[in-house]
Amino acid sequence: MNDTVRIGIIGGGLMGREAASAFGRWFVLEDFPARAELVAVCDLQDSLLNWFRKVPTVKLFTKNHRELLAAPDVDVVYVAVPHNLHESLYLDVLAAGKDLLAEKPFGIDLRAARVIRDAAAKSGRFVRCSSEFPFLPCTQRVIAACQPEAIGKLGKLLEIRSCFWHASDLDPTKTINWKRQNKFCGEIGVMGDLGMHVAHVPLRLGWRPKRVYAQLQKIYTQRPDGKGGMAECDTWDNALLHTDVDIAGQHDVPMRLEMKRLAPGATNTWWVEVLGTDGGIRFSTAEPKSLWTFTRGKEQIWQRVDLGHQVPFPVITGGIFETGFPDCFLQMWAAYVAERNSFLKGRFGCATPDEAVQSHELFAAALESHVQKKVVTLA
Ligand SMILES: NC(=O)c1ccc[n+]([C@@H]2O[C@H](COP(=O)([O-])OP(=O)(O)OC[C@H]3O[C@@H](n4cnc5c(N)ncnc54)[C@H](O)[C@@H]3O)[C@@H](O)[C@H]2O)c1
Repeated sequence: MNDTVRIGIIGGGLMGREAASAFGRWFVLEDFPARAELVAVCDLQDSLLNWFRKVPTVKLFTKNHRELLAAPDVDVVYVAVPHNLHESLYLDVLAAGKDLLAEKPFGIDLRAARVIRDAAAKSGRFVRCSSEFPFLPCTQRVIAACQPEAIGKLGKLLEIRSCFWHASDLDPTKTINWKRQNKFCGEIGVMGDLGMHVAHVPLRLGWRPKRVYAQLQKIYTQRPDGKGGMAECDTWDNALLHTDVDIAGQHDVPMRLEMKRLAPGATNTWWVEVLGTDGGIRFSTAEPKSLWTFTRGKEQIWQRVDLGHQVPFPVITGGIFETGFPDCFLQMWAAYVAERNSFLKGRFGCATPDEAVQSHELFAAALESHVQKKVVTLA
């Protein structure tokens, strides 16, 4: 396979430009046997297309995604558009014979996610779903501590929490956008927005919820429309999913997934905690280099270690420096290219289409649970 992966972006908004930033500093990856080059961009907005003119490798600027998909020099397409467009655009990418890094939630609902997953399998193209927090150094340690051969050290498992919290929606004067309207974002609301991020690590560890009881909240039902009026804000703001999972022979371990747009003070705070009778492990992006571990000896001790920049795909950045969002996003892209080009070598890979569908199965069950106020069993 050619060692330059030529990438096209459909949707040059918040995430499309974040991806451009990752490709723009690809050279910081050490001994990485493939180059990523951004060659084409599609967005509907002139101002965004113009922004991409600062990227010297981009040769094609278009408002028509079919033009981008017809370009023979595009190998991989990253699609970062509102959720109501995922299904049709992802299917178009596959029909054009391109590989795909799809943004979450991988379709607006479970039906769409299954259609995309099946089309991806049929196409034979390399398809993954975006989820970057597993690539942070501390998350990598959490994942290592939770492998089947390691988790026994934690003793009898008490509980797991996997959470993603935002706060800016606490401000009722924040203007509405597509992420706060069901017709663009989906009936699953905040679960579509934040859910893949909390589900990815548990699903990869094989912790598939058997049952779910969901508490969903709509707190602000209207928001300023940005034109002097008010608009309906009909998405779920906060979601608490109480589930139970079987882990390494231990049954019905409580696992809570929390997706919140109204979490006081939390700016993109992704965190995970696994607690047992003998040990525990905890990481939050609020403390980006600090990993907390619990041990029970004569005394019970929570201790902190600062990990620095110990990323799975080595970069020139000094080992003592902190990691942040752009770093794990670059690492996620490195994992995508490494797996596509067959040199992942056992490292953690991007979320698979099956995992994306499993997350949607959970969110669909959560909706049912909330409406009927009952526990829903998952297949
Ligand atoms: N991985 C993450 O951490 C993360 C963070 C935020 C958003 N997302 C996901 O990324 C996706 C996009 O979110 P965003 O925050 O970048 O949104 P955004 O609104 O900032 O950008 C979306 C862009 O898509 C463009 N667009 C709409 N229709 C189009 C079409 N037909 N063809 C080409 N471009 C079109 C819009 O003009 C806009 O610029 C969503 O799926 C969202 O859930 C992921």
